[in-house]
Amino acid sequence: MRILGTGSALPAHTVTNDDLARFLDTSDEWIRTHTGIRSRQVITDETLLQLARRAAEAALENAGLSAADMDYILCSSVLPDTITPSLGCVLQAEIGAHCPALDVNGACAGFLYALDLADALIASGKAGRVLVVCAEGMTRMVDWTDRSTCVLFGDGAGAAVVDGGEGLLATHLTSQGDAAHLNMYPDPGNSPFAARRVPARALHMDGPEIYKFAVSHSVSDLRAVCEKAGVALEEIDHFLLHQANKRIIDAARARLKQPAEKFPMNVEARGNTSSASVPILLDEIHRAGLLRAGELLAMSAFGAGLTTGACVLRWTKE
Ligand code: ACO
Repeated sequence: MRILGTGSALPAHTVTNDDLARFLDTSDEWIRTHTGIRSRQVITDETLLQLARRAAEAALENAGLSAADMDYILCSSVLPDTITPSLGCVLQAEIGAHCPALDVNGACAGFLYALDLADALIASGKAGRVLVVCAEGMTRMVDWTDRSTCVLFGDGAGAAVVDGGEGLLATHLTSQGDAAHLNMYPDPGNSPFAARRVPARALHMDGPEIYKFAVSHSVSDLRAVCEKAGVALEEIDHFLLHQANKRIIDAARARLKQPAEKFPMNVEARGNTSSASVPILLDEIHRAGLLRAGELLAMSAFGAGLTTGACVLRWTKE
């Protein structure tokens, strides 16, 4: 599998740390020093479908293909506009594709999970070209009175068009069934028969626990996936890590003993956009001309589940 094109889309409204400090007991200094985030883009009147469509169309254009050329659409979203129909399904009609489409929920590792599924669809002969779109509206999931979570997130969408050419060298996915440290509960409904009703709850996160998990898994996953790919860490030209927190990325990088210039970041201006984070970063550095044809990329992400995913691929676009 190889990546033929990338795209991304962000909401128009930018919220700075100072904007947050106007209604929360927080400060630009705390957020910057604990996370590296200065600002993020936040949904106002956009829908996730609109962001997904813009990212998808940008990726298709970048690949030189049209929606009708796609054999499958995989959308990653923790909370789409509608639980049903899926975001993939409505996106399929919106862009004029005529192929199967569905959503995957691998939380913040969703891009890596979706790429792995796309690779399997292509390898099995069920699809020739797959459109992967990650669209997330995390700011619709957090409690805006909870300073320990709401300052961390932004919204956005990232997309990639892939086919069966040579590029992907290895993937490495994990999940470990831990709902305690990172979760969100939906409206429990009003069934008169329900004996147990868990009240709705906005995104809850045990930050320090997730921090430890994130650093140790980013390191072990990247080591494992490089070993599977048969490449040394030193041979990787760029590491694209989930843009959750600059401190997590810096700590993982230090343990991997790799130079900072190999770790491009956009968390400062985007915040954590969940599964959209890696494909947005990929699109931004691709369009900035930072990627050379033939270079090796390693990507990794972690999130609720707890899930993690990593891959190594050769970048083949000029
Ligand atoms: N402003 C000011 N103070 C704050 C804020 C805030 N926004 N948030 C928390 N604090 C306070 C806390 O109340 C606490 O105060 P106390 O010592 O008086 O109790 C103090 O700051 C320290 O809190 P910690 O939670 O220990 O702070 P920490 O240094 O661990 O940073 C953070 C918190 C940024 C959340 C960090 O733990 C982290 O990045 N964890 C990982 C989060 C993550 O990556 N999540 C994404 C994965 S899932 C996904 O992507 C959907």
